[in-house]
Amino acid sequence: MTNKAAKSFFACQECGYKSPKWLGKCPDCGQWHSLVEEEARPPSGEGRRHEQWGADEEPIPLSQVSEADHPRLPTGINEFDRVLGGGLVAGSVVLIGGDPGIGKSTLMLQAMMGLSRKGANVLYVSGEESVRQIKLRSGRVGSASDKLFVVCETLYERIASMIEKLKPAVLVIDSIQTLYSSAIGSAPGSIAQVREVTFQITVMAKKTGIPTLVVGHVTKDGAIAGPRLLEHMVDTVLYFEGDRNHIFRILRAVKNRFGSTNEIGVFEMRESGLAQVENPSAVFLAERPEAAPGSVVTASMEGSRPILVEIQALTSPTSFASPRRTVLGLDANRVALLAAVLEKRCGMPLGGQDLFMNVAGGVRLTEPAVDLAVMAAMAASFLDRPMQGNTLVLGEVGLTGEIRGVGHMENRLREAAKMGFSRCVGPWGAAKKIKIPGTIKLECAKGVVNALEILF
Ligand code: TYD
Ligand code: MG
Repeated sequence: MTNKAAKSFFACQECGYKSPKWLGKCPDCGQWHSLVEEEARPPSGEGRRHEQWGADEEPIPLSQVSEADHPRLPTGINEFDRVLGGGLVAGSVVLIGGDPGIGKSTLMLQAMMGLSRKGANVLYVSGEESVRQIKLRSGRVGSASDKLFVVCETLYERIASMIEKLKPAVLVIDSIQTLYSSAIGSAPGSIAQVREVTFQITVMAKKTGIPTLVVGHVTKDGAIAGPRLLEHMVDTVLYFEGDRNHIFRILRAVKNRFGSTNEIGVFEMRESGLAQVENPSAVFLAERPEAAPGSVVTASMEGSRPILVEIQALTSPTSFASPRRTVLGLDANRVALLAAVLEKRCGMPLGGQDLFMNVAGGVRLTEPAVDLAVMAAMAASFLDRPMQGNTLVLGEVGLTGEIRGVGHMENRLREAAKMGFSRCVGPWGAAKKIKIPGTIKLECAKGVVNALEILF
């Protein structure tokens, strides 16, 4: 019994916390029944792993390391490349997370088919689908080439020998949770296995220089299943998001050692696979109702690109003691704050109203620059007064009802001008410093009361 206790420990399957004895609740993340017994890794494992990909490297002066050894390999899908920071970097490991059925495997397959058509040998390892299923999918999204190799395999050691034999230019692992290594005894999908296999993959990628794309499942609360550690081990973490009932999918970087983390890629899921959306503003505004109360357009910066989106609000007298606040696509706390500012500073009695907020097209906005637009939408619905259709609303709102400046004013206004907007209500002072596109009239609001006067 004492001998067994020395060899095994209990690991939380949510956060990776380790304990020598079983506990009903993880003291680290607070999850119940998440501790599972796992075998301690045999001590001999460490040395073996490093031997596998050649001798240990000697330290060399940084000045002698040439950058040319690590050119970027564009996948050919522009939206994907932009999120990556310009293409795949040699030896990098990219983790792609997302809900089931969102299109991770489709995106991977399309990128690999594109690369293989350009003459690169690529290996697609699937632990989830059979080779025939992949073939069926490939038939929908395009023509396959002889350079695209697929295999259904879950044992990491066998995959490693395939990599050595085939020497692919790019490797895809779909998904990390299905893989296991014979080096440790835990079940596939357990924290210990996911950590072990990810570690081995990163060592392999660094030593061989093969860019590796790893698909990961996400848990109910939207994090990549497995410890946070996984995100630290890889170079880049991308999330593929979107409402499964909408056709739009957004690829977002949350960590990128080789590029910016706020770029997004916009895709549309079609019968024939994922199509790139070159002009997201036009798509998100396509079905906008003209002159409807409660609909306001704003410009949100998504990475280096401004995107115009429609924010919708609906207020209706409540039949409950405490009114409902339902928010989609925005931060609910931020909306509550803005509703409070509207009530206090503009005297709008929202306390007796149910409030529903939505961002059209399934987009999620996180920027405070959309604050004023959110307030304008609430006020418009409450007053039941439509706004002029050609008006863009911008600005961050503070608790005293002041409107603060936002960054990238010029970019946002240029995008608005391109989409045919002729008027922008925004923060005071911004107009003096920047170059405004000729077709847009900027109306500066001093505070929220003033802004609502201008708008309605
Ligand atoms: P998939 O890539 O299997 O998702 P994931 O790997 O993230 O779980 O995507 C599956 C969904 O995409 C499925 O519901 C069907 C849909 N789909 C299309 O609409 N068109 C297509 O051409 C393909 C291949 C899939
Ligand atoms: Mg899949």
